[in-house]
Amino acid sequence: MPFPSHRPRRLRSSPAMRRLVAQTTLAPRQLVLPMFVADGIDEPRPIASMPGVVQHTRESLRRAAAEAVEAGVGGLMLFGVPRDEDKDARGSAGTDHDGVLNVALRDLAGDLGDATVLMADTCLDEFTDHGHCGIVDRAGRVDNDETNRRYVELAVAQADSGAHMVGPSGMMDGQVAAIRAGLDAAGHIDTAILAYAAKFASGFYGPFREAVSSSLQGDRRTYQQEPGNAREALHEVDLDIDEGADIIMVKPAMAYLDIVRAAADRSPVPVAAYQVSGEYSMISAAAEHGWIDLDTVVLETLTGIVRAGADIVLTYWAVDVARRLA
Ligand code: PBG
Repeated sequence: MPFPSHRPRRLRSSPAMRRLVAQTTLAPRQLVLPMFVADGIDEPRPIASMPGVVQHTRESLRRAAAEAVEAGVGGLMLFGVPRDEDKDARGSAGTDHDGVLNVALRDLAGDLGDATVLMADTCLDEFTDHGHCGIVDRAGRVDNDETNRRYVELAVAQADSGAHMVGPSGMMDGQVAAIRAGLDAAGHIDTAILAYAAKFASGFYGPFREAVSSSLQGDRRTYQQEPGNAREALHEVDLDIDEGADIIMVKPAMAYLDIVRAAADRSPVPVAAYQVSGEYSMISAAAEHGWIDLDTVVLETLTGIVRAGADIVLTYWAVDVARRLA
């Protein structure tokens, strides 16, 4: 047997050689940090199932947001956690200009101006007493069109409060078109829409339910997608692009990298992927046991998500990774 003519190992022979030929690299500006802000707490409250992640107070959110921007992350995605007594069937605390999320948006818009991209979760589940992402009708079903009317009000309240980008995550049909029309009519023509286009009914959202103190009983299978349906996911992507989405997102990330790839291959707009709470918790827990090395695995997962075609990744590790990449 002669010596092999192709020797790929040549290009792995030194750090400088590996750096030269690196095909996929991460940059801090691609990473978006999801953050939780809670009403009625005096101290940041740790989220037990997400070690290192907290529900922020108004003040601690301002500090953490400034640090994240300083670290170079591309944007911040805010979730509001109202007091239990402020939850109702219509999610009124979400559209109330003095509601926790809108107040926090005003704080951060004032502190940070255009130094970052301020995003808000445009969904009702954090604010409803039943925990669903929409308005529940008499038969107990989530009413699509009535919910879209509330999403428009939510999006306009968030844009009024300083959000540069709204993130409809409730998977109602036509939500992007409704929100685009509503924002335009309110004069918010420059407020962008990050559409959760392909969002699956996933067990990986488990820790998030603790993070937002969710009231949900049951599941979201009448509006979120079945994990096995790839064709349907791409239909959702196409619809959201037609309806005017500025960025489309696939969620969760790691178990859906084929969808990220397929979406990236057809999308004329940027593609985001959300490394969700359960992905964070799973890796954190294994690392805490000493079973895997946290830094190695975090970078590997994010590199994999970007290699699959994501231009932007939402991750609870955004700040840590941005600092390491600096
Ligand atoms: C809905 C929403 C959820 C997440 C982001 N937006 C929860 C759900 O759909 O059940 C999950 C994020 C995560 O798990 O990190 N407002």
